[in-house]
Amino acid sequence: MSEIQALTQQALADIDAAATPDAIEALRVALLGKSGTITGRLKQLGALPPEQRKAAGEAINQARDTVSTALAARKTALADAALDARLATETVDVTLPGVDAERGGLHPISRTLERMADIFGRLGFELTEGPEIEDDWHNFEALNFPPHHPARAMHDTFYIADEGGEGRRLLRTHTSGMQVRYMLQAVADGSGPPLRMISLGKVYRSDSDQTHTPMFHQCEGLLIDGHASLADLKGTLVEFVRAFFERDFEMRFRPSYFPFTEPSAELDIAWQQPDGSTRWLEVLGCGMVHPNVLRNVGIDPEKYTGYAFGMGVERLTMLRYGVDDLRAFFENDVRFLRQFA
Ligand code: PHE
Repeated sequence: MSEIQALTQQALADIDAAATPDAIEALRVALLGKSGTITGRLKQLGALPPEQRKAAGEAINQARDTVSTALAARKTALADAALDARLATETVDVTLPGVDAERGGLHPISRTLERMADIFGRLGFELTEGPEIEDDWHNFEALNFPPHHPARAMHDTFYIADEGGEGRRLLRTHTSGMQVRYMLQAVADGSGPPLRMISLGKVYRSDSDQTHTPMFHQCEGLLIDGHASLADLKGTLVEFVRAFFERDFEMRFRPSYFPFTEPSAELDIAWQQPDGSTRWLEVLGCGMVHPNVLRNVGIDPEKYTGYAFGMGVERLTMLRYGVDDLRAFFENDVRFLRQFA
């Protein structure tokens, strides 16, 4: 047997004995790699006398082909064997029930927001959204807040750091700034007044206890036309409360104060307590739009009147579902949230 035949025999035996893909790869490198045995022989061809080169070259090339075919075959065989072993051990019980994708549900606050948009939508109020980072003018100034109103104090409001003066920005403390934005836009593009809008969204106050979180949601409403009256405001809100809770309540409008409405009121509803007694619960603030606010946005208060209202979304959600701790809405405990899904 020639030396190259002997080398091939040995190589085939080694390949046959290789038990892992790594062993196969090691053999490939040792035999056919850059400095592999067979590759080495090919490199030495040039040193042979010319008359021996052809025969020797053919023999080495044949050895290389044989070895490389054997390597590939062994590799496939090993892979098949591994797959067979896995199929034998990792059986799948196709009769087991499938893995269900968990179904989510809407957060109770989202449900209330949708409900509010729906009810007011049916009453013709256009839904609008605005920025949560607001400037002092939209949030306070244009709404007729006097310069030293307590809501403007640092401890009540989240101001953006390092911004002082009239132009300073803050996390909006209520959605009433949207009254200003909406009216300015309507005046600018000539779409109103008359106009009707509601605005839903997050507001921020430096407050935290069982009935206050630093972030909460409000629903703002505004109507401006040539003959809006307190009676219209009352009718709209009574209708809303009835639609929202799907029941009738005794309600009262209690005089109150907001800088941007005059007269101002809070709406209370008579809430049935577990012990059978009733308690007046405040659900929203409202009033007739102050003439100064109309002037600030370029609407003539001699020609137009309007009403506005603002309510706490969490508060109404708590009442509707009987939740007694506001903070539960934002702890994201699925045991709590699942009850609304
Ligand atoms: N913005 C007021 C608040 O946050 C509520 C309100 C809105 C009152 C509109 C009157 C009119 O308390």
